[in-house]
Amino acid sequence: MPEPAARRCVCPGSFDPVTVGHVDVILRAARLFEEVVVAVAANPAKRSLFTLDERVAMVREAIAGRPGAERVVVDALGDGLLAEHSRAIGAPVVVKGLRGGTDFAYELPMALMNRHLADVETVFLAGDPRFEHVSSSLVKEVAGHGGDVRGLVPPQVETALRERLEQQRPGGAAQPDQPQGGR
Ligand code: PNS
Repeated sequence: MPEPAARRCVCPGSFDPVTVGHVDVILRAARLFEEVVVAVAANPAKRSLFTLDERVAMVREAIAGRPGAERVVVDALGDGLLAEHSRAIGAPVVVKGLRGGTDFAYELPMALMNRHLADVETVFLAGDPRFEHVSSSLVKEVAGHGGDVRGLVPPQVETALRERLEQQRPGGAAQPDQPQGGR
């Protein structure tokens, strides 16, 4: 029997923006693995509200000082393949949170594809039921209509969201380089 393959895992995502659900999964992964690499995907197919650099910075800030954060590294995945990146950095396990059946239906083909491409396995963590309704896209929609997103995203993200959406209003300040969209 070969040695277990991984001490390091990858938590990939668009994180546009990072939510409390993402933070929960990242920190729970840090209880299971010696190192967690958060890979923030450029995802050109999705139009993001925040730039890649902004999303990386927001994830870093969101986990700073939290228990286990010392085992977490946050980096841009760019627009390369996750499976190849995972193998290249010696983290052949992807960790993802599942909020329910819809997430599973979305994640399963990606998990199978990553295994097909580079023998990268995916471990699913059951999402915390407190965050079952929390997604980046719903948060953006609620905030876009002036709703209260406190407790759904880290406080700094709440402020950044308010500012970015304000910029995007007709007559607001300059637009960011990428328009809104994403899951
Ligand atoms: O947070 P998201 O948008 O649901 O995350 C999706 C993500 C970034 C994990 C997925 O799109 C991805 O892995 N993108 C990197 C490019 C890639 O490897 N695509 C093939 C996936 S099987």
